Amino acid sequence: MNQADQLYQQAVQVLPGGVCATARYHHVLKRPLFIDRGDGAYVYDVDGNKYIDMCMSHGASLLGHNHPRIKEAIIKALDMGIICAYETEYHTALAQRLSEIIPCGDMSRFSGSGTETIMHAIRLARTATGRQKILKIEGHFHGYADEINFSWGPPLDKAGPAHAPQPYPESAGIPPVLADDIVMIPYNETDLLRQAFEQHHQDIAMLILEPINYDAGCLLPDDGYLEVCRELCDEYGVVLFFDEVLTAFRMALGGAQEYLGITPDLCVLGKAFGAGTPISAISGKREIMSHMRPLGQSEHSGTYLAHLTTVLPALVALEEYSQSDFYTTLNAKAQRFYDGFQDIIDRSGLAIRIQYAGPRFGMHFGLEGKLRTYRDTIGRDVEMERKFIGACLERGVYFHTALHHGMSAAHTDDDLSQVLDVIEHALNEIK
Ligand SMILES: Cc1ncc(COP(=O)(O)O)c(C=O)c1O
Repeated sequence: MNQADQLYQQAVQVLPGGVCATARYHHVLKRPLFIDRGDGAYVYDVDGNKYIDMCMSHGASLLGHNHPRIKEAIIKALDMGIICAYETEYHTALAQRLSEIIPCGDMSRFSGSGTETIMHAIRLARTATGRQKILKIEGHFHGYADEINFSWGPPLDKAGPAHAPQPYPESAGIPPVLADDIVMIPYNETDLLRQAFEQHHQDIAMLILEPINYDAGCLLPDDGYLEVCRELCDEYGVVLFFDEVLTAFRMALGGAQEYLGITPDLCVLGKAFGAGTPISAISGKREIMSHMRPLGQSEHSGTYLAHLTTVLPALVALEEYSQSDFYTTLNAKAQRFYDGFQDIIDRSGLAIRIQYAGPRFGMHFGLEGKLRTYRDTIGRDVEMERKFIGACLERGVYFHTALHHGMSAAHTDDDLSQVLDVIEHALNEIK
């Protein structure tokens, strides 16, 4: 038995399912990947196997693993005394920098995770508007807080009709009453969006969405869709909230709101923000952010919020992302990879749809043509996908069994052509 299988046997005794987070379970390995270390574009498992990493901490490690400047920043935070629950000049500097680069980011507050930040953001939007309901889009994922943990991957028989989806709780234990505060609509359907506003606007506090729906495998907004979201929110006094946990700093310094040219009222930034360290921000317009205590009445607090071991790395990450050629280099490298991938798919004759934005992408096995909504992605050939992922693992490329994958700034063209070679072999094998 190899080291990883032994570790898994021990892990299942004391960690439910042998993992610390459900999403870490790998459906091909039938256990998580047990990592020894990560470096640049690579991870090394406990059995000495080296993989080119196409998961990259689910998108958090955009600078690559083990980045020397991120490491230095963490050490600086340790040298300052491992303090928490105090303010420093660095907290202000980080919020100041966000106000320069995030279009809606007049003011910011920091938390540990996207989930925690979104929980606070919902409370803030409810405080600012005096309304309670949340307009949510089917297939968009916003973390695990009970009040929003609905319908990011609902089974069709529980999801209601396509034009009027019903909120489906994505976990047991969510009080059914919370579904009453969700108005669910499909993505990219402007008429249904308009109808929902006309019918419910007096109760709706916020419209929350992933401006690029990476979590359903990278579904992009149709031309003009976000413009209509902005107009309707303005017309009815609803907070437009962009969940930029995955899109922040991904394809442009100002995230999807800069890339797509629509400014929300509030947003959450996560993952790449801390370059592998646990920090997330709620950033937004001054008049809304001013509802936070001690200025207003909306609570946002916690002992560990904005820990220096994350604030200092985030400042460094923003410096790296701010280098003049960072995004042109990253996006061009990603495009070369997608062009190569598409060529291989075309040559293989297999039905596989890839969709991408910047350095992250979705792979939809068994599907063809543009995918616009969650329901377009139903019917993916999961068996084919898993065979493919298994064949890649055997050849030293790590794809997680997830709906989005990606590369980092540390991936070289050489790494990515190796990945393309492996993809070609894997597709030939599963044909
Ligand atoms: C779009 C989106 N929102 C929210 C979250 C939750 O963030 P976290 O895992 O930091 O709690 C995620 C995490 O994958 C995400 O992709």
